[in-house]
Amino acid sequence: MKTIHVNTSHPYNVLIERNSLESCGGYIRSITQASRAAIITDDIVCRLYAQTVVDSLSASGFDCCIFTFPHGEQSKNLTVFGQILDFLCENNITRSDIIIALGGGVVGDITGFSAASYLRGVDFVQIPTTLLAQIDSSVGGKTAIDIKGGKNLVGAFKQPAMVICDSNTLITLSPEILSDGMAEAVKYGMIRDEKLFELIENHNLDTIHEVMDEMIYTCIDIKRDVVEHDEFDRGERMILNFGHTLGHAIEGWYKYTDFTHGMGVAAGMCLITDKLCDSEISGRLKACLKNYSLPTGTDIPMSELLPFCSKDKKRESDSLSYIVCRTIGKAEIVRVTVEEFNKFMED
Ligand code: GLY
Repeated sequence: MKTIHVNTSHPYNVLIERNSLESCGGYIRSITQASRAAIITDDIVCRLYAQTVVDSLSASGFDCCIFTFPHGEQSKNLTVFGQILDFLCENNITRSDIIIALGGGVVGDITGFSAASYLRGVDFVQIPTTLLAQIDSSVGGKTAIDIKGGKNLVGAFKQPAMVICDSNTLITLSPEILSDGMAEAVKYGMIRDEKLFELIENHNLDTIHEVMDEMIYTCIDIKRDVVEHDEFDRGERMILNFGHTLGHAIEGWYKYTDFTHGMGVAAGMCLITDKLCDSEISGRLKACLKNYSLPTGTDIPMSELLPFCSKDKKRESDSLSYIVCRTIGKAEIVRVTVEEFNKFMED
């Protein structure tokens, strides 16, 4: 097993181990005296993994209850959030119990926000089962739900009490969901680590499993370092949003249906790199993304995307920050007015 210690305001460990789902109860028992564990998951993950997790938790003395909601971003809303809170209350979950997010990014985000809100805060554990959730959303304490005005617009910082990554769960992922996570892995290479980028560019969707554990470890360790320096997203953490300003805009344009988050990030990274960097850098980035069946741009006219960018959470008053990597492995944060951003993207 590999362990990464994340030294934030509430420190915790990320455990990376194949088959750790089967021993999660013991790991969770080592950090809590809770008598009850409330597992929040979606319909697909419930079918695949809930029984394994319940068996392990029960063997470690937890009394378990499970709330399941329909998979997909459409569930990350106020209605499901309210249902989770009611479920926790109906099952008498107290502040000394534990909440478990079992699933991908949607499950982690809405469960984390529920754990932050219910009784003003109950400990929760992330058991991410997608690549995107393992390398990005489960670590760092950002939790959120979507509202009509946009994605992740309501949320809280709430660090998990532990993160348990079992890369065996990635074997059951469809190629599309694996690609979704690979966009974030490519992002980590671009912003911080040329060697990681090289590892990824030398593989593809079929062969990346050969180096999966090494890649997951490296990505999480980069995230750990960034989050430890800027837990509350006031500066350096923004580099994790490379490709996200335009990526979120593309996702929003598609109404969060046909275009996954990873596809948006991939296209967003290419659009900004094409504008501002040497053709060698953008050529390598695009070739790498193509290995993972990810888009390298968009046909949506810029004039239609830019209104979505001005809703970006990184916006402050009339300015916004975007991230550029002029060298692979090094990110810069650039703050411009919304007007300047629109002008240079439209040119
Ligand atoms: N996913 C970006 C962040 O955690 O800051």
